[in-house]
Amino acid sequence: MNPFVYFSRVSNEAIAVDHIFFALTALSIVIVGVVFLLLLVFSVRFRADNPVHRRKPPRIFEYIWTPATFFLFLFIFWWAAANQLGALDHPKDSLDIHVVAKQWMWKVEQPNGVREIDEIHAPIETPVRLVMTSQDVIHSLFLPALRIKQDVLPDRITYLWFTAQKPGIYHLLCAEFCGTEHSRMTGRLVLMTQPDYARWSRSQGPSRGLAAQGEKLFRSLGCSGCHGPNSSVHAPDLAGVYGREVHLSDGRVVTADEAYLRDSILKPGSAIVAGYKPEMPSFAGTVGEDDMVKLIAYLKSLAGHTTINQQGERR
Ligand code: CUA
Repeated sequence: MNPFVYFSRVSNEAIAVDHIFFALTALSIVIVGVVFLLLLVFSVRFRADNPVHRRKPPRIFEYIWTPATFFLFLFIFWWAAANQLGALDHPKDSLDIHVVAKQWMWKVEQPNGVREIDEIHAPIETPVRLVMTSQDVIHSLFLPALRIKQDVLPDRITYLWFTAQKPGIYHLLCAEFCGTEHSRMTGRLVLMTQPDYARWSRSQGPSRGLAAQGEKLFRSLGCSGCHGPNSSVHAPDLAGVYGREVHLSDGRVVTADEAYLRDSILKPGSAIVAGYKPEMPSFAGTVGEDDMVKLIAYLKSLAGHTTINQQGERR
């Protein structure tokens, strides 16, 4: 792979990050330069045997210099923080690609059910969100060309999103020491135009969409027995629950995102919906990370969340 690929920038966010980086570097060089220049001038001019008038410098320099540098660096802080906070907020209609990290590989599931190992295919000019979790230890997914990185944690879901502008093949790295093979836990990010991505999805052969696989699991695990419309058990109806606000019995109001759905399946006692009894058994140990991805995809599809079908078209 071309070593210069490290310098490629494939999203507007990456360019914004570079602007901050270069501005901070340039500013630091200028300040270090000025300090060293003054150091040199003063050490020559005020050396011990130089008969120069040693009066106190006027205070005004201090009054200007101190606040000026303070506000300059405060500006850099504001610039970087505003950028980072903006990056936390993902667009509503993102294409969700699930990533499960394990020692030492990246397992990827496309919305249409196509599975990949150590590769993420994604379309450009589309907001893509990576919904990530780990099967064992802490990993960190790093996409240098997009200037984004996020820890991938066991027992938790973390997110990363981007809207890429340039097709191509870029690095995918693990940026957290996760064991002896950590340095080999690499892969490729393949960015394609939207028609190419649709064509690629189709060429991966017939696969049942993630949501369809999840629906099958939902039945085989017995979830539908209690959560189905004709159930005699008093359990919350899950149609449209994804993305909704849920009132819990302890007074909290939470948004039913991926993390909430996951917790409700593995640790049902941790968040009881107001008006319901804590009757649900835990599925920890029964539902692995791969199955969890499918179940969550199914629950999301019940809420009309954007998915892509087998033909690679967005719905
Ligand atoms: Cu996974 Cu380092």
